[in-house]
Amino acid sequence: MIQLKNIQYTYPEGTKGLEDVSLTIESGSKVAFLGENGAGKSSLFLVINGIHKPQKGEFILDEARFKFTNKERKQMARKIGYVFQDPDVQLFAASVYEDIAFGPFNLGLNKKEIDARVEKNLNLLGIQDLKDKAPHQLSYGQKKQVAVAGVLAMEPEIILFDEPFAWLDNRHKQIMNDIIDDLNQQGKTVLISTHNPDFAFEWADKVVLMKEGRIIAADSPEKTMCNKTLMQEIGMELPLVVQLAEKMGIDSYSRSIKALLQEV
Ligand SMILES: Nc1ncnc2c1ncn2[C@@H]1O[C@H](COP(=O)(O)OP(=O)(O)O)[C@@H](O)[C@H]1O
Ligand SMILES: [Mg+2]
Repeated sequence: MIQLKNIQYTYPEGTKGLEDVSLTIESGSKVAFLGENGAGKSSLFLVINGIHKPQKGEFILDEARFKFTNKERKQMARKIGYVFQDPDVQLFAASVYEDIAFGPFNLGLNKKEIDARVEKNLNLLGIQDLKDKAPHQLSYGQKKQVAVAGVLAMEPEIILFDEPFAWLDNRHKQIMNDIIDDLNQQGKTVLISTHNPDFAFEWADKVVLMKEGRIIAADSPEKTMCNKTLMQEIGMELPLVVQLAEKMGIDSYSRSIKALLQEV
């Protein structure tokens, strides 16, 4: 379980990233983060990942207070995986193979185990053909796929996806969807920041609405995303299924248009 208590994070040059952020995330849950650009989603992920040390507040991971020491950060890397919004920040090795192998290598696995993890995740993402390419030869979407494979190869318990669907074509969006479902089925905790209200509404157990570095609501999809005032505050439309049910004049609990169509 992750607990954040009154977290404040200010960037070195003075910009407020997070202000008085408190949040509990249960193990195995699916949490979506919504908010306009600059709302603080990535800043929050960087705190949860142990990279940004908050100036105020507490971060409690599995009952223990996380102190952001280098030793703790190293242990954290085994537990929490972070897929950055921008894959160019994440990829650094000379080839896709080396990039994905880097994490497992650092876990101290032997060559055979490393190769097995690389193969498994190349297959999972459907990117076997990219194995020997250099990252700079890849499209942005392909880089994102490789970044995801690299994080999954570490087999973390908690995975943070910063805008995972950005730049992916439809086929790879579907693959990413399946991967995320599969991770949850394995009991992992998955946090996703997204600009897609329909995805968040259908997928999440808990939705966190952020604005100007603060959390303005954290609750079920229904309690957050059906609230027009809250959604307006974060500059987002209501999920299409909610708009449609309203237009049709029905009280619906459907989380997707597909489910709504089956209901009526
Ligand atoms: N590296 C940085 N240096 C200074 N300010 C930053 C940096 N990254 C983000 N910020 C600022 O922190 C605030 C929150 O940004 P961010 O967490 O990136 O939001 P989001 O991911 O929701 O778009 C914004 O005001 C942004 O300009
Ligand atoms: Mg961001």
